[in-house]
Amino acid sequence: MTQILQPHRIELDDVVLRPFVARDEAAVAEALRDPDILRWTAGTAVIRTPADQRARKWLEPRIDGWAHGSAVFAVADAATDYVLATVSVRDVNRVPDQAVVAYWVSPAARGRRLAARALDAAARWAFAPDGLRLHRLSLDHALINEGSCRVAVRAGFQLEGTMRDYYLEPTGERHDSHLHSRLATDPVGQCPGATAGS
Ligand SMILES: CC(C)(COP(=O)(O)OP(=O)(O)OC[C@H]1O[C@@H](n2cnc3c(N)ncnc32)[C@H](O)[C@@H]1OP(=O)(O)O)[C@@H](O)C(=O)NCCC(=O)NCCS
Repeated sequence: MTQILQPHRIELDDVVLRPFVARDEAAVAEALRDPDILRWTAGTAVIRTPADQRARKWLEPRIDGWAHGSAVFAVADAATDYVLATVSVRDVNRVPDQAVVAYWVSPAARGRRLAARALDAAARWAFAPDGLRLHRLSLDHALINEGSCRVAVRAGFQLEGTMRDYYLEPTGERHDSHLHSRLATDPVGQCPGATAGS
């Protein structure tokens, strides 16, 4: 069933998950200065864009994402509304009941398990009867990206296996990747670390 996505907002203790807006460009530009965000998440088109135009190139399709079947959340500080991170539930209409998730956290906001907490919250909404009603969410990460593996497991995404030479960098370098998934029927308790600052 093709779903029309209604932009959505999820409030956690210290952050809010909300759609991106044009005024987030400066925060996105700050994030895209991080080589790991560029390397693992930005995509070839953004990487090949001149540095001073990358944020807009990244942001515009994400603002529009909801109209095109991807729930793209900015994770913003609850007090200042400044974007610290993102988590997205992509391509909801490509395979029935399934979608792929992705995330990054700006370097200055790392170390508080923000990715796992935002991913857990987005997954719960994606599975919920009053959310997207999906059954399966999956993600992949290069094996050498160990922090992303920790995020996935902590957010209840079980390791399913290794995909050989799955991730191709714009440099031509290939990486084996882990495939993780979380099902709506998985017995997932409260995301460990879900309490701010724990
Ligand atoms: C991966 C990322 C989202 C994690 O950000 P975060 O939520 O702030 O993560 P934290 O710093 O709180 O660390 C989360 C966990 O990963 C572990 N970790 C973080 N960096 C690590 C590293 N380089 N190597 C091994 N473990 C690492 C932490 O010890 C922690 O483990 P724990 O929860 O078991 O205690 C962030 O580093 C990032 O944006 N990286 C670049 C983009 C990226 O790789 N996105 C995912 C693509 S698949």
